[in-house]
Amino acid sequence: MPLKIAVYPGSFDPVTYGHLDIIDRALKIFDGVIVAVARNSEKNSLFSVKERVKLLTEILEDRPVAKVDTFEGLLVDYVRQCEASVIIRGLRAVSDFEYEFQLAQMNRSITRDVETLFMMTSVPYSYLSSSIVKEVSMLNGPVDKLVPPKVKAALDAKFRG
Ligand code: COA
Repeated sequence: MPLKIAVYPGSFDPVTYGHLDIIDRALKIFDGVIVAVARNSEKNSLFSVKERVKLLTEILEDRPVAKVDTFEGLLVDYVRQCEASVIIRGLRAVSDFEYEFQLAQMNRSITRDVETLFMMTSVPYSYLSSSIVKEVSMLNGPVDKLVPPKVKAALDAKFRG
């Protein structure tokens, strides 16, 4: 049987425990998981792509993730280039559904070779987003339960370094 490789794409600005929860669960399902940072996101980012990849690489060091990578252009092109067949997305709340539905349908209309798999974000992280973490950290609030220590240190350096 061919290996089942999945791509978990996102902005990861920065990676949170919510993302790690999805990655850990995906690792139990797939033969390989590629974590891919989108280069052409329209979002204003706090961390550069290089910084985001470095943080992800350090944090995922002990996990059997196939690779941490970046991509530009169409996600489905990148997925096919990796010889992967699945896109993993986390769904936090009903509010995520509309956007994710649009994304998945558009990707499906481009190619039928790639499936999108949605995983329900675990309850403790269902209210989490990278933006809210950045806001709390900027205001010197506690983020210890939301992000790994390395991310907290990187946030501290950005806002108070
Ligand atoms: N737990 C907690 N938070 C989570 C989460 C989880 N499991 N999963 C996602 N989030 C948060 C993220 O932190 C992020 O927060 P933010 O908005 O405050 O930054 C938010 O949910 C959603 O971000 P993310 O999952 O990173 O997706 P995105 O919307 O930034 O990026 C891409 C989506 C990159 C996959 C999409 O834009 C894409 O495919 N781009 C490539 C171009 C393309 O192919 N376009 C056509 C597709 S139709």
